[in-house]
Amino acid sequence: MAPEAPWPKAPAIYQIYPRSFADSNGDGIGDLVGITARLEHVAGLGVDAVWLSSIYQSPWADGGYDICNHGAIHPILGTMEDFDALVAKAHGLGLRVILDQVLNHTSCEHPWFLAALAGDEAMAARYLFRDARLDGTQPNNWISQFGDPAWKWAHQRRQFYFHQFLQCQPSLNLRNPDVMAAHRDQLRFWQSHGVDGFRFDAASSYLWNEALANNPVASQWVREHNTGETFNPFAYQEHLHDMLPEASAHYAANLREWAGANSWLMAEMTVSIRSYEVAMAFCKSDRLNAAYTSDLPEGSASPATIADLLNRADPARTVKWLSSHDNPRHASGKPGEAAFLATLMAVLPGPWLIYQGEEWGLPQPDLAKDEVTDPFDLMYWPDGPGREGPRVPMPWDAEAPHFGFTDGKPWLPMRWNRAELRAVMADGGLADIYRDLLRFRREQAWDTAQVVRHDHGDDWLTLCLETNHGRVTAWFGWPGAAHPVTHEEAPLFSLGHDSGFRATICRDDSKGTVAA
Ligand code: NOJ
Ligand code: CA
Repeated sequence: MAPEAPWPKAPAIYQIYPRSFADSNGDGIGDLVGITARLEHVAGLGVDAVWLSSIYQSPWADGGYDICNHGAIHPILGTMEDFDALVAKAHGLGLRVILDQVLNHTSCEHPWFLAALAGDEAMAARYLFRDARLDGTQPNNWISQFGDPAWKWAHQRRQFYFHQFLQCQPSLNLRNPDVMAAHRDQLRFWQSHGVDGFRFDAASSYLWNEALANNPVASQWVREHNTGETFNPFAYQEHLHDMLPEASAHYAANLREWAGANSWLMAEMTVSIRSYEVAMAFCKSDRLNAAYTSDLPEGSASPATIADLLNRADPARTVKWLSSHDNPRHASGKPGEAAFLATLMAVLPGPWLIYQGEEWGLPQPDLAKDEVTDPFDLMYWPDGPGREGPRVPMPWDAEAPHFGFTDGKPWLPMRWNRAELRAVMADGGLADIYRDLLRFRREQAWDTAQVVRHDHGDDWLTLCLETNHGRVTAWFGWPGAAHPVTHEEAPLFSLGHDSGFRATICRDDSKGTVAA
């Protein structure tokens, strides 16, 4: 049974990357039974939900985001019975379950795509196939988000097909009625298995300009603000035609219609230009609950980054996060900074996304090139932080072989520092701070507060929140910041650390009172 109460307005969601969470059968790869066995830990933190990254049948060319059957569990991860047991256990612990939905593209091994290659025109219409130009070159200048040309030659059809990520991830034509019907059924199928919400992958890339106009060259400003690093030529274009974020936001009304009013829906934005404005468009009333951009992790949640978020977006509709299976672990190896940033995330109103292992402040692991499997990392090696580091499996036990993740050989090397783990896993360690913060944000209603004022300098940030329990002022100081003397009374919450990161949250009795 799903938890009876309606979804909280600003859920705290724990992201699980299934291959790397917990292995139950010794093959070195995390699986659903392993997740189920560890759900008490997640529930014990006090989060509202888990989001499982893609669990579907896939060649795993892109870590599960290249799907060949969206209605089946990857056999290495388990069975449908295992999934049902996971959902039942989660619900029993009061956790809701959010699944990834990768509607933007399929694997090139998907039966639809294989049929299209074999000449089935109705199936070809579910993708974007186009003839070559007369000189045999690709139809236009579009570049995929991973940086290679967005067109791949399909010799079987004597045509190119469009892909926005890897070549083996052909983009779907989401305006195609058969695709729409299949996606509607897909959402309802997973709901029939008890799923409470969805995370929509790459939702800002859903639609494209059907006239296939060339993208213009990026201006200097656009180039500096484009998604991706400077080593990725994706940043060289202004993506006016290969992705239509506003039209995709409009399309999100379909997702709401298919999923129904009670499902909690969030979307990933892969745009950096107008990122928050696009995110807000996805969250209009008949659309999604929330959307998230990569501004916070890319800006290291600096004072200016937070101010930018508050100036441009409704924080109730933006998911706050710092690390993921795509982005390096934040505050790597710095527990003081990790506790400070957790406090900042807890105080910011709106949903909060916590990536597996950040409750222990796991550092960003280093991997050698021959250990890495992610094609994006390998494409640009050694540029960039890479995406595989945060996918190194979770340690569960500082003393156990392979840290209790597996009885076999982990799929990526685990070189966690046992002494550091012992310290962070001990009572009073970082996970306890996360527990306190998660409880406190709910009890003090920071999660649903209005930000009535904010101010910042290079190394400090002040937030004034109007909560259901009265007004509070939160001050955050990065190392070197001078602490302002603004409150005589005992703070509601304070955090100080040798590293220089400090936070103080006080009642502001000049307006409203705090319930005892
Ligand atoms: C975002 C996912 O998080 C990432 O892992 C994937 O490579 C792309 N979308 C494409 O699906
Ligand atoms: Ca396994």
